[in-house]
Amino acid sequence: MKFPTHFAAFAAASLALSTGATAQTVQMTVQAGDPKLQISKHIYGHFAEHLGRCIYGGFWADKDSKAPQQGRIRMDIVEALKKIKVPNLRWPGGCFADTYHWHDGVGPTAQRPKMLNLWWGNTLEDNSFGTHEFLELCNLLGTEPYLAANVGSGTVQEMSNWMEYLNSNEDTPMVLERRANGHPEPYKVSWWGIGNESWGCGGNMTAEYYTDVYKRYATFAHNYPGTPLKRIVSGANGDDAHWTETCMKNIPLNQMWGLTLHQYTLPTGSWSGSKGKATGFGEDQYFSTLRNCLKMDAVVSKHAAIMDKYDKDKKVALLVDEWGVWTDVEPGTNPGFLYQQNSLRDALVAGTTLNIFNNHCDRVRGANLAQAVNVLQAVILTEKDKMLLTPTYHVFDLYQVHQDAQYLPLQFSSPDYAFGNEKIPALNASASKDAKGAVHISLVNLDPTKALTLETALPGVTWKTVTGRVLTSAKINDYNTFEKPNTVALAAFNGAKKRGDKLAVTLPPKSVVVLELK
Ligand code: AHR
Repeated sequence: MKFPTHFAAFAAASLALSTGATAQTVQMTVQAGDPKLQISKHIYGHFAEHLGRCIYGGFWADKDSKAPQQGRIRMDIVEALKKIKVPNLRWPGGCFADTYHWHDGVGPTAQRPKMLNLWWGNTLEDNSFGTHEFLELCNLLGTEPYLAANVGSGTVQEMSNWMEYLNSNEDTPMVLERRANGHPEPYKVSWWGIGNESWGCGGNMTAEYYTDVYKRYATFAHNYPGTPLKRIVSGANGDDAHWTETCMKNIPLNQMWGLTLHQYTLPTGSWSGSKGKATGFGEDQYFSTLRNCLKMDAVVSKHAAIMDKYDKDKKVALLVDEWGVWTDVEPGTNPGFLYQQNSLRDALVAGTTLNIFNNHCDRVRGANLAQAVNVLQAVILTEKDKMLLTPTYHVFDLYQVHQDAQYLPLQFSSPDYAFGNEKIPALNASASKDAKGAVHISLVNLDPTKALTLETALPGVTWKTVTGRVLTSAKINDYNTFEKPNTVALAAFNGAKKRGDKLAVTLPPKSVVVLELK
């Protein structure tokens, strides 16, 4: 049976659910695909919010820190993130963005006014990390800055001034001020989110009201020479179809480059009670987390279908600019700081979610994991001057081969992973071909106890060798600590062989594998 290309893995998985597939060898086919369809590198974006220890005590070293620094930017973090090729970094929020007044964060540090970070723990924000510091961080990372403008408590003029300050090169007061603050040339920032979660912390607006507000802001979001703006609409909460429908209906296509979506994975699925554990969970919460993360496919499909009605040429990008696992905070930490550990389970969520995005690359052209350092599903955790890489970091390391590569659709039927009375597809995958012709296949086996055997046909692909790397660990809830930072680490993968013109793979239980065929 043939499946529509970009739903291949998950549609096939649904078929497996209905036919009760057995543990026989999975037959997979890598198709040639449309040479024009790329997996945008921006799917691999990250997020830096003024929240907990993401900026202060994270990216921005404490005053007494001995960690390697440039200015106060932590260079151990920069070096680690450079290795996974961060394509864009979103800042300053999140909910914080709609309370942030950018002008308080430029100029001599000692003269910058302080503010209360009302959303996140009521901490005193001294504005020492502001626009120049963020853009210097982006420069060190070699990444695209993605700014979120304050719509909830700011003004059109304030946003417009920020754009002029950053992007113009005429002798206006804004530009003279930027030059006086040490940056003669325009920064040329083109990615601009107009508000964040405008249905919630960004102003509790209705979709109808927000779209009017958006159009007003977007009108005064000017292009400066050499910097055409990517204007981004604050999009839906989860599967809220009405929000997306209203945005697509009310906002002219030429006023928006992208529309966002926020979709988090909560182990229990509950926002009101316990969200679930980051560590020490059993198979029940392992299963429910994976089941909840798989909902991303249906949610993206739903919004993409609405967008298709108004934009059949798929000009507007869907940007899932907040996603990830959200658990209860680590015991004893500030509940407002959203600090959580990160286990092998979360790495499987990352691999699965990135496969979903790759398989929807015709519409999903950006995403941002929440958040890069010390918050929610962080890729990096710090403790004073120490730093560790989480299991999720290693998935971004593995998957960087897909960035800007040609998308190759896959066909297969997944076996089930059953727990209690429920089942989910055990296997998910995506594939691409890079500029040098190497094919990469990322495979995730969610089953915690059963290996999967795969036989893959690659018609039209010429290849001689297969190599790979694997991420797994002894237990589903294993994680890295500052004492044992390599409990969950990458290893060479020897479970793939060329058999005739087919690829034979034995995929270990609870693992993420990325193969390279050349
Ligand atoms: O990532 C934490 C918060 O989650 C963000 O600030 C907000 O946009 C979302 O509700």
